[in-house]
Amino acid sequence: MGESNSIAVGLTALSQILKREKSRGSETLLLKSETEEALNALPMKLMKAATMSSVSAAEVIPEKAAPMARQNAEGSTGTLSSAVPKGGEAENEKWARAQLNEIFKEAKNCEECRGLGTLRDQIVFAVGNPMADMMFIGEAPGSEEEKERKPFVGPAGQKLDQIIGATGLKREDVYISNIVKFRPKKGDGRFQGTSNRKPDTTEMAASIRYIRREIEVVRPKVIVALGGTAAEGLLEVGGSVSGLRNQVHEFNGVPVVVTYHPSFLLRQEGEGDAKKAMAMKRRVWEDLLKAMEILGMPISEKQRGYFL
Ligand code: URA
Repeated sequence: MGESNSIAVGLTALSQILKREKSRGSETLLLKSETEEALNALPMKLMKAATMSSVSAAEVIPEKAAPMARQNAEGSTGTLSSAVPKGGEAENEKWARAQLNEIFKEAKNCEECRGLGTLRDQIVFAVGNPMADMMFIGEAPGSEEEKERKPFVGPAGQKLDQIIGATGLKREDVYISNIVKFRPKKGDGRFQGTSNRKPDTTEMAASIRYIRREIEVVRPKVIVALGGTAAEGLLEVGGSVSGLRNQVHEFNGVPVVVTYHPSFLLRQEGEGDAKKAMAMKRRVWEDLLKAMEILGMPISEKQRGYFL
């Protein structure tokens, strides 16, 4: 396990112990609120430090980094674009596929992820177009994804397909990935059946380097972060989706739109409040319209008035 990540693991554990002791009324461990806040914020800060030191652009962008050339030609704000020469489309795609394959192999053997002991063994990497303009990022695979070894193939995936379809794009046109590449365990993982859970900050810290590198390779023109957990892991920000979705964020020069996770929409639909569910679906669609506008995609009147 890398040094920063092992510190993050230790600090997360310490933070949990302190919280527990506090809830038990222990006086000897009572901390000032600033100390508590600083302690709680440390894993996220270390996550940033760990990725900054472990993933340099040079590591993933070779001298003839073709996908960046595509961005050059189109005036991207990408931070690395100016150093990169132009390549042909087929050459770019070949390069991107090879790079993603490398990242896949490294992620499969991720020692930090395995070292946590909280993630299951089967890797679920990414699907889609390595040259995509639009990239969707979720939190972690669930049971269906683990079985099929592909992200977003279960009920949340079907909802996502519907969202993608409404934009006029197909699943093969976009790139779909997750921050955490292994399904989080519940208990020791042996009896969890189809039950899933969100990844925690430590699991995201151990995995974040891979999605950062995927973004460097695919170099999408817009990223859609699905849900608060994905947004928190990628952007290192806290807060609710309803707050985060009101602005366009940025990751390494790539605009990021935050929206509700498809599972959240499914839960809303299942709760029987049709009006509320419809309002949430409309919000997601508005976020997608924002992403389409960033890409300069044509938007019809029908699409503008659409409810998912
Ligand atoms: N939820 C996610 O965040 N990712 C998946 O791949 C599936 C469900």
